[in-house]
Amino acid sequence: MCGIIGYIGNRQAQPILLNCLGMLEYRGYDSCGVAVSSSGIEVYKDAVRVEALGKVSPQFSGTAGIGHTRWATHGKPSQVNAHPHLDCTGSIAVVHNGIINNFQRLKRQLISEGHSFVSETDSEVIPHLIEKYYHGNLEEAVVAALRDVEGSYAIIVLRAGEHRLVVARKDSPLIIGIGDRENFFASDVPAILDYTNRVIYLEEGDIGVATPDGIKIRRDGAEVVREEHKILWSVEDAQKGGYEHFMLKEIHEQPKVIRDTLGAHTQATELEVDLAVVRDRGIESMLILACGTSYHAALIGKYIVEDLLRIPVRAEIASEFNYYGQTLAGTAAIVITQSGETADALKAIRRLKEVGCWLLAITNVVGSTASRIANQTIYTRAGPEVSVAATKSFIAELMVLYWLAMSYSKADGKRLASLLIGLRQLPSKVQQVLDDEDKILECARYLSGYENVFFIGRGINFPVALEGALKLKEISYIHAEGYAAGELKHGPFALLGSNTPVIAIVAQDNTYDTMLTNIKEIKARGSPLIALAEEGDEAIGELADSVITVPRVDAMFSPVVNTVALQLLAYYTAKQRGCPIDFPRNLAKSVTVE
Ligand code: AGP
Repeated sequence: MCGIIGYIGNRQAQPILLNCLGMLEYRGYDSCGVAVSSSGIEVYKDAVRVEALGKVSPQFSGTAGIGHTRWATHGKPSQVNAHPHLDCTGSIAVVHNGIINNFQRLKRQLISEGHSFVSETDSEVIPHLIEKYYHGNLEEAVVAALRDVEGSYAIIVLRAGEHRLVVARKDSPLIIGIGDRENFFASDVPAILDYTNRVIYLEEGDIGVATPDGIKIRRDGAEVVREEHKILWSVEDAQKGGYEHFMLKEIHEQPKVIRDTLGAHTQATELEVDLAVVRDRGIESMLILACGTSYHAALIGKYIVEDLLRIPVRAEIASEFNYYGQTLAGTAAIVITQSGETADALKAIRRLKEVGCWLLAITNVVGSTASRIANQTIYTRAGPEVSVAATKSFIAELMVLYWLAMSYSKADGKRLASLLIGLRQLPSKVQQVLDDEDKILECARYLSGYENVFFIGRGINFPVALEGALKLKEISYIHAEGYAAGELKHGPFALLGSNTPVIAIVAQDNTYDTMLTNIKEIKARGSPLIALAEEGDEAIGELADSVITVPRVDAMFSPVVNTVALQLLAYYTAKQRGCPIDFPRNLAKSVTVE
């Protein structure tokens, strides 16, 4: 998820582009750039934040320009990988948000036709394709170029000597901001609110051509008219997409994040290479290391991989791992880290490398330190996560673990087929949880009055109890503990009573009966009990004080719907308590110290 901007008007474009880009940095901030057209195209870009770029970039004169702030997916953050990208002649500049799935094939084709490339990005194929098809009409060249492209894109195209911008969108957002004798294109509304609140949302497949005096939109060659909207939001509200907090926005992005993360890997062939290397090394066991929420993903990964690959898996807290003495011969190690910069995780990575361990990093940040040290890296596609409390990145990490394990599963074909169907249904199952918040809101109001809360789960939902407790702790400041349900009677039972509500995660799997027994034991000790249970579970209603129902899924995927429900529970409880949800006290999004 990057941020793109275009301006065409009568004012100097550069200061406007930089200001608009600053409003889009919540979409990506690892590098940025602008291009301004007068007689030729002038470009300035680098792996810096927008503000820094504004300070060092030369002043370009011109009243048409484009800009980009990046969230790297292909090619690490660097000056050469930053956008805008140019064609061979340097007269066509493009900014792109999205992912070109067939870029490697297109690049090989274009190179064989004499084009030369300078970056590692997928996006650079676009200006070269436009150059290939340019015969005097920029719009036609863009349409022809996009016929070759497979994937998602929002693009803005600028050509030297032409006072117009050409844009297109497919599976990536693009809006038009209408000004007085000037027009703007942007990934999102926040970018242009300083200049206008008259907005048109481009639709899938739309091609737009803008001059200072007007905009033409075509779809499949035919001119179309799109409705104009008047935006009443503040810039900050708009950055949150109308949600009150980034956390709630990011929770609601999860169906798309699941599709993007699975989509990125099911289409690419890179995975085979990774695990083929592992298999060739005769891996007998796996070690998964991480911290915080990513450690909870690692724990769930243990259940998934042991179930499907039938090899022993250790999931370890990275900061503790550094004190263990152990032999790792024949062990494949995976380190999971959203930011790719967590000090404890990096220390563990370096240690594993020292002892010659093969290491796979699962991270959300392209070019992060973890991705540079690891033997191989698999990226989640969660996009930038602004809220300190990790939500969508966690679900994206689970998607990579599911895909890894299913790609090399020893399970029979029938089970694998049903798991594949289940995996593909997850976006809609998660959407069901998001659309059914009433019960969660009610429970949040109830919980917000307590200072101590327990979460319990068994099997693959034990780590979900840990994650539910962490989310509640982090943002509502309630002292919450997650336990393996079987552990309560070995001590924590002493804390049960009317002041300690318990949230029990009750999945329809081989833990069901024992969970019901545990719930009876907890009720007998006077604790209020909220059950998180699957739709159609009649029995639980008789035992629990309140039931949050989640859609029925394969037991292997129950952590996904259960976690999303607990994210919402934590969010609404913290909101009820008036906590600063996105930036809780004493915490940082990336913990770069030990
Ligand atoms: C989770 O909500 C927290 N932000 C924190 O526990 C986080 O998961 C932990 O610091 C690990 O971060 P990483 O995934 O970026 O390595």
